[in-house]
Amino acid sequence: LFQPEMSQNIANMSGQVIRDILKLTQQPDVISFAGGMPPTDALPHEALREISGLAFEKYGREVLQYGTSEGFLPLREFIVKWMAKKGVKAELEEVIVTSGSQQGIDLMAKAFLNQDDRVIMEKPTYLTAIQIFQLYGASFLFGDSDENGIVPSSLQQISKHSTNKLLYLVPNFQNPTGVTLSQDRRKELPGMMAELKLVLVEDDPYGDLVYDGNHNGPIKAHDQDQRVVYLGSFSKIISPGLRVGFAVAPEAIIEKLVIGKQSSDVHTCNLAQAMIYEFCAGGLLEPHLESLKNQYRKKRDLMLEVMDRHFPRSVSWNKPGGGLFIWVQLPAGKTAQGLLKEAVKEKVAFITGECFYVGGGGSNTLRLNFSNASSAQIEEGISRLGKVMHTYLA
Ligand SMILES: Cc1ncc(COP(=O)(O)O)c(C=O)c1O
Repeated sequence: LFQPEMSQNIANMSGQVIRDILKLTQQPDVISFAGGMPPTDALPHEALREISGLAFEKYGREVLQYGTSEGFLPLREFIVKWMAKKGVKAELEEVIVTSGSQQGIDLMAKAFLNQDDRVIMEKPTYLTAIQIFQLYGASFLFGDSDENGIVPSSLQQISKHSTNKLLYLVPNFQNPTGVTLSQDRRKELPGMMAELKLVLVEDDPYGDLVYDGNHNGPIKAHDQDQRVVYLGSFSKIISPGLRVGFAVAPEAIIEKLVIGKQSSDVHTCNLAQAMIYEFCAGGLLEPHLESLKNQYRKKRDLMLEVMDRHFPRSVSWNKPGGGLFIWVQLPAGKTAQGLLKEAVKEKVAFITGECFYVGGGGSNTLRLNFSNASSAQIEEGISRLGKVMHTYLA
């Protein structure tokens, strides 16, 4: 049998966790709280179907031609105005459209990381970001986190090294923990980056999905020293399948992201960019966001209420003010892996927390998604999971 000799960076990775999640979510009789997707019936299908026709009419054959790596100009102009409303002043030259914010992470890694360079992160953090950084040969250091996100003073404790390159944060309703960075830390962090010789990657796919209170505004809004790169995404607020996101960064960094993008995919699909632009500029984004927030708030509240009713007292969890996830802790010594084995027998699934921890930890944690399942599935699935927990933890 042919045993291909792979690169060291990819040889050590299995991709198994993502494959397992997809397998579980695709079984029709399993109630899955594993993924992080909008429910398919909440995708604005009719509006986007009409808009795709309109985009073909309005932009003609050009939409089928190659475009620029920086992205579709009207969409970039919209992003400049949209970010200004969030308190981020950006020039057009400081915006690139990416194929999802995931590509933004990938392009930042491509632009900044040499083999064995270090990325500073929270523990736990977004699984795919970990994988991307590993593929570029990075190693990791961790800041301390509490209920208000990463603790700035803990970054000062990290040994200073010229190979420390990026600080990767998900400041709003973090994936997986649901934690949000406090306002005072948002103000403090950008000013620390120059001394620490770091660039802060602010990955923010969940910032618009706020269910309680006010939006904190991006860290990038406090970036006097031009050390923060903001990554945005239309995946969780319009459609993940269209694969449109963006980065806002100093021009010198954008230039390198453009070079990286040229060798990845030349540019993000023109039709997808035009559709996202027409959806937003046509005034459909705000009402759609309102409707999503109302649906997701109800589902979050329902899930929390059903958890309260059915989960054993020894299990604890947070109440996220937005985003898509609830983070659950089993009593010490009990593993979410063990629980998942039993849960799958009862046709209910979640993702174990340990895959969000580099180098181990979190074996008693798990992540529940509340956006994708229907209300009836939330009632049924959480009550099943509660029963499994009572037996498993007894
Ligand atoms: C923290 C975080 N960043 C980035 C992404 C990727 O999103 P996109 O679809 O924009 O690539 C996700 C998706 O789940 C995410 O949770």
